[in-house]
Amino acid sequence: MENEQPVQKALQKYEDVDSWKTVIFLYNSALKEVGTRLEILNDEFQHVHQYNPIEHIKTRIKTPESIVKKLKRYGKETSIENMVKYVNDIAGVRLICSFTSDIYQLAEMIGNQSDLKVLSIKDYIKKPKESGYKSYHMLVSVPIFLSDSVVHTKVEIQIRTIALDFWASLEHKIFYKFEGNAPDYISQDLRECAKMVSELDDKMLSLNNAIQACLVEGTNEISAPPLEEITENVIGNRRPHGKFVHTRKL
Ligand code: GTP
Ligand code: MG
Repeated sequence: MENEQPVQKALQKYEDVDSWKTVIFLYNSALKEVGTRLEILNDEFQHVHQYNPIEHIKTRIKTPESIVKKLKRYGKETSIENMVKYVNDIAGVRLICSFTSDIYQLAEMIGNQSDLKVLSIKDYIKKPKESGYKSYHMLVSVPIFLSDSVVHTKVEIQIRTIALDFWASLEHKIFYKFEGNAPDYISQDLRECAKMVSELDDKMLSLNNAIQACLVEGTNEISAPPLEEITENVIGNRRPHGKFVHTRKL
């Protein structure tokens, strides 16, 4: 389509309208667009494989306070232009999956959408953060089709397992409670928990693979083959589970 624009340019188009409202309108539209695409992918998977890679999805628009805080942290002045340019997570989507293998499958499906541009990827599952944080982050740019133009808008997608989400929520709360200076024993315990969460995720994946292998072979004996020998995730025949829930909290 002609007249493709970044958000900065689109702001000029609506110059008679409050810029903040324009920004929120565009990022909200981007969230809707990405949310619908993900729902379709999930439905297609359900349709073909009788299984949902997404347990649930959360979306949120960053609050003005958090945006201002982030710009300050980056040493930038508070302006609409700077927030659009430097704050990449104004629109955020969090995808919660059952298994680590789901994360990579979803990331691949998202990357394959031809008009969606992947701007950057941070794989904190392969390379966890110092805190123990594990999650897969994608910064994408999604086209919003307006009356006479297409605006490319950034959305941060975080993909993680239920267990990792549980850990990250608690860690985030503690981080805020202590303003980043949690006592050593708490940080250490959290890192210990992160290890346990990783082990749990690995075990659950092996267990699921073992169950699938048994189902594929048409046997109910979970004991064969041994869990350790199964490395590939078999996705067929998994029982449908989970619902796609939209919430505004992230
Ligand atoms: P900001 O940290 O947001 O400035 O951006 P960045 O460019 O450093 O991106 P990064 O991928 O590090 O973090 C993006 C988001 O991931 C954060 O806003 C959090 O939501 C989440 N995140 C990153 N690190 C941690 C962590 O150690 N613990 C928790 N609970 N969440 C984290
Ligand atoms: Mg960060």
